[in-house]
Amino acid sequence: MSTIDPALIALERALGSGRVITDPDVLASYAVDESEVPPHPPEAAVRVKEAREVADVMRICSEHAVPVTPRAGGTGRTGGAVPLAGGVVLAFEQMTRIKGIEEEDLIAVVEPGVVLGELHRAVEALGLFYPPDPNSLASCTLGGNVAENAGGPRALRYGCTRDYVLGLRVVTADGTELSVGKRTVKGVTGYDLTSLLVGSEGTLAITTEITLKLLPKPESVVTMMVLLPDLVSAGRAVTGVLRRGILPRCMELLDEATLAIVRPETSLPISEAARALLLIELDGEAGALETQLERAGNAVMEAGASDVLVARHGGERDKLWAARRELSRALRKRARYKLAEDVVVPRSRIAALIETCQGISQRSKIAMPSYGHAGDGNIHVNFLWNDPSEEPVVHAAIEEMFKAVIALGGTLTGEHGIGVLKAPFLPLEQAPELIALQERVKTLFDPKNILNPGKIFPSHVAKFHGAC
Ligand code: LAC
Ligand code: ZN
Repeated sequence: MSTIDPALIALERALGSGRVITDPDVLASYAVDESEVPPHPPEAAVRVKEAREVADVMRICSEHAVPVTPRAGGTGRTGGAVPLAGGVVLAFEQMTRIKGIEEEDLIAVVEPGVVLGELHRAVEALGLFYPPDPNSLASCTLGGNVAENAGGPRALRYGCTRDYVLGLRVVTADGTELSVGKRTVKGVTGYDLTSLLVGSEGTLAITTEITLKLLPKPESVVTMMVLLPDLVSAGRAVTGVLRRGILPRCMELLDEATLAIVRPETSLPISEAARALLLIELDGEAGALETQLERAGNAVMEAGASDVLVARHGGERDKLWAARRELSRALRKRARYKLAEDVVVPRSRIAALIETCQGISQRSKIAMPSYGHAGDGNIHVNFLWNDPSEEPVVHAAIEEMFKAVIALGGTLTGEHGIGVLKAPFLPLEQAPELIALQERVKTLFDPKNILNPGKIFPSHVAKFHGAC
């Protein structure tokens, strides 16, 4: 009998026969997410159907000190859902109910397995709006969005997942079911544990129900594609639009190396002379939008834009967005190995960041196309290479980039979390005392360290993933 067997027997007894999955093929599908963390299959998986089952799993796994890794859509980019420590994967793919959309109170109550794009469709059919829109919205789920505090292009105007989570039902490491937060717009009772749990990467508690704030759906949306001769002009265009008192919902940037990849794959007229592209999207009341569009157009022309293409209707806008949404996957096809970072700098320093990256790329000979949420200063710097022998060079290049980001007043991750991959770099940004304080918070919630072990903290990750 392996050490996990008594726990699996207790789980079968509590949940019913056939509910504990040990089929190696299924376990292999739970061994990875969309990051570059190597596969780590769990020893078992349970596809939970309701909160009570989550509580049973946690109570039993706590008694037997078995690690539990929660898994939502599996679209994470830093290894958050990879079961580094083995044990049990708690999969939410069957908890997919939208339990209610309360139109008068502008609230949605959902289970963690609801696919984000389906929530968008359901609320928009009622004239409502849920803004967070990570590019994986066709397959990522709300549970993962909560775990990572997911963002997306619309964060510029509307913020990230944390700004919309009013309350959570959670199960703690020992199997206790709790409600945290509220279902009202305001509420300051007690510590704000909801905000702490959102973005805690599945290391503090397991979400079983999410109460989300909704907004009225904006009446109109218009998207502009702007071509620019260089990054400095693109940076000036971003700040110029904001200075004119316009807050677009998105301002997305593609750099020269990314454009070279996109150009042959799109029918969009992206001239060879363009060295940067901005997608700027405005929303609001139809009449007011025309004035804003004109002012934004003037701002980008003043910054040096060579071309501006405006899309007012769904199909045209989708065409502008299609290439952007698929960038991450398109870049992956370009090389055998890819690492994608999601650093953030003050938006006035975007050109400085990308120029620094171009310098690192020239010296290291590693391709580093960059794109991202320029309005937020949140840039996806990608590292592409083909030969495993280049790995040490890539790691040195990543470290150099992170150091530059911190020196520019930035932060390591804007959307994808620390997970496994960024843990070695946490001390570049945070003081040892701050990391130690957070480790004590982790121990308070999870004294046996069974909840998603091996994530965030360098010493925890090093136990399973080599030295940090
Ligand atoms: C994007 C993902 C990678 O913005 O965050 O495409
Ligand atoms: Zn992104």
